[in-house]
Amino acid sequence: MTAITGSHIRHGSNIGQPMTRREGIAKVTGAARFAADNHPPGMLYAVLAGSHVARGRVASLDLAAAKAQPGVVEIMTPANAPALTQHPDEKTHPFMFRLDLLQDDRVRYVNQPIAVVIAATLEAATEAARLLAPTYEVEAPTVRLDDGKKFVPETVGLGVPSREGHGDIEAGLRAADQRVDVTYETPAQYHNPMEPHAVVAMWEGERLIVDTPSQGMGMAKVRIAGLFGMDPENILIRSPYLGGGFGAKGMISGPQVLGMMAAKLVGRPVKLVLRRDQMYGPVGHRGQTRQRMRLGATAAGALTALDHHTVTTTSRFDDFLEPCGRASHVLYPADALSTSYEAVRLDTGTPLFMRAPGEASGSVALECAIDELAEACGMNPLAFRLKNYAEVEPMSGKPFTSKALRDCYEQGAARFGWPAQLPPPRSMRDANGLLTGWGMGTATFPALMFQAAARATIRADGTGVVEIGAQDMGQGAWTAFAQIAADGLGLEIDQVDFRSGRSDLPDAGIAGGSGHAATAGSAIYDATGAAIAALAALATGDERSPLFGAGNAGVVARGGHLWRRDDESRGESYRDILARAGRASVEAQGQSAGNPVTAQNYAAHSHGAVFAEVKVDPELGQVRVSRLVGAYAAGRVINPRMVESQYFGGMIWGVGFALHEEAIFDRRSGRPVNGNFAEYHVPVNADIPSVEAILVPEHDPHINALGIKGVGEIGIVGTAGAILNAIWHATGKRVRSTPVRLEALL
Ligand code: MOS
Repeated sequence: MTAITGSHIRHGSNIGQPMTRREGIAKVTGAARFAADNHPPGMLYAVLAGSHVARGRVASLDLAAAKAQPGVVEIMTPANAPALTQHPDEKTHPFMFRLDLLQDDRVRYVNQPIAVVIAATLEAATEAARLLAPTYEVEAPTVRLDDGKKFVPETVGLGVPSREGHGDIEAGLRAADQRVDVTYETPAQYHNPMEPHAVVAMWEGERLIVDTPSQGMGMAKVRIAGLFGMDPENILIRSPYLGGGFGAKGMISGPQVLGMMAAKLVGRPVKLVLRRDQMYGPVGHRGQTRQRMRLGATAAGALTALDHHTVTTTSRFDDFLEPCGRASHVLYPADALSTSYEAVRLDTGTPLFMRAPGEASGSVALECAIDELAEACGMNPLAFRLKNYAEVEPMSGKPFTSKALRDCYEQGAARFGWPAQLPPPRSMRDANGLLTGWGMGTATFPALMFQAAARATIRADGTGVVEIGAQDMGQGAWTAFAQIAADGLGLEIDQVDFRSGRSDLPDAGIAGGSGHAATAGSAIYDATGAAIAALAALATGDERSPLFGAGNAGVVARGGHLWRRDDESRGESYRDILARAGRASVEAQGQSAGNPVTAQNYAAHSHGAVFAEVKVDPELGQVRVSRLVGAYAAGRVINPRMVESQYFGGMIWGVGFALHEEAIFDRRSGRPVNGNFAEYHVPVNADIPSVEAILVPEHDPHINALGIKGVGEIGIVGTAGAILNAIWHATGKRVRSTPVRLEALL
């Protein structure tokens, strides 16, 4: 099922192999210690009290009743919360979001923290939080897109202009023989990683030690240091494992900081874990969108205009706007191309990055509208895409660093059995009489690189150490990094001690934006290369070494030896080199960052194509996805097992996007009415019959030394669109909002 790129061979024996997760046994046996598994001596339990109303003021808290609960140690409110150096509403850079840290009695959304109870037991804290029985001065909330006042934001996502394009859309539409003007809607979705946000915080004098899941420990450290007015070097974050992040753990969240404040207040270690229902507010979500797509094509099926207008939501007090138009910048060229946005402020928590922010929602509208246009042109949806996909990035006009989208279309279609002639809609039934339909979608996600550092050491016994403060959130990053480390040092994987998951190691940047493998992996590769160079310098300048004089030709590191590149029969072991030099080890630092020349001249993206089969009950309207095939090209594959499972995860999320996920808000109270796992639906095993991911080989010579692009988010892109298109094919109905419910098909 998994193809391996051939060029991995030159790097060694580890990269490209489907190794199993390093921490897999620890995880399945329960030995792996997640944040909430920590119990330092003297630890107390903190429980958040969250607002029940969406807008107003806290009028009263029954502190006496709560304090009377046996076991209660302290109740943290705005009156006694430790003073912060930086106001939580201050923003000193764009990658910073406003936090609710008990700064005043204002309520800005449901589940906003209004107090924190600290007690000897979780039960006592939970009961005391209930006894607080808050009363409020309530103001009428706005929680639905239709109820708010629209405005035009300056930027969306992180600094994406809210209006971009070229050409004349109206002229392009007039010139078209076929047009579609359709509006697609996607709901608010909430991150539900298996592990809720958790923090165990301990102050030791000026020092703060925190066990907490974080997708970016370096950034978290700086944020925490700013809030508490301390030296970042006095903060140690331990984040070895994350039970999923999906963007909700990208920036340190308010509740995590509240745990640190609580520990400071009582002078003892404190644990604070969010309940599932408490995650519907203070830790981000995917904002609701309404996307109007106006497209035109000639009679021959050539795109003439693409206008993608998004209305989305943000909170009353901060800005994060789902950059839905980004996929429309990348996939299909048209002489007239435009993306634009409006936004509405709601009394909810601020939306945030959520797996494939922008592309996930945007591709629903884009891929469905493209399908509708193909239908209008009387063309097979695959043929239409093959005719129209971009050879250079449409918005920027830049060539791609690499692009194997055609291979993705072809290999995916072949595996799926996509027909040259799509049977008419509502014409296919299976043996059980279920309406059957096929649909497809295109996937794209930027191949981002951030900044990272790493350290590599070769020891006198010939083994290696590689250190980087990276995260494993279930995606298998550590396994892939250890593979890169081993090949970089010319060792087997079990000869390298790979150390990670702590903020006192070199900063790995952020495990987000699908850039972790490329970023941290490149830093590791750079560090190992530097360590090998340092080792080589000890040998090539020493007359006693068989490598003497190999300085110009260079050396190859393999099997714990350095070999002359011009004569691979002449080599020397790491052990011998270090022994003769009288050294216990050699150590080197490495760095990585996006290449500015590449960024200037190229557009870097991963690509893919998704094919879906659905079955729809003609009487009940029930939809089942019966088959999904995705084909993805994302540069070098470090570990095909992990990469395949990233694609599976994304595609399965696409099923949830199409059929299950939606947070519904009560208009009067502003409360999420399904803000828990009982009623917020996500797909379960029974919803996922057959998923296949094809790893399409792709060599990217520009993106980074190893040619790694991202795989974490692209699986969700295009999948929901493919399913909606398959539902149309099965039923003849274009459902233009997600999730697709039975009533839409009756
Ligand atoms: Mo991802 S939404 O960048 O964690």
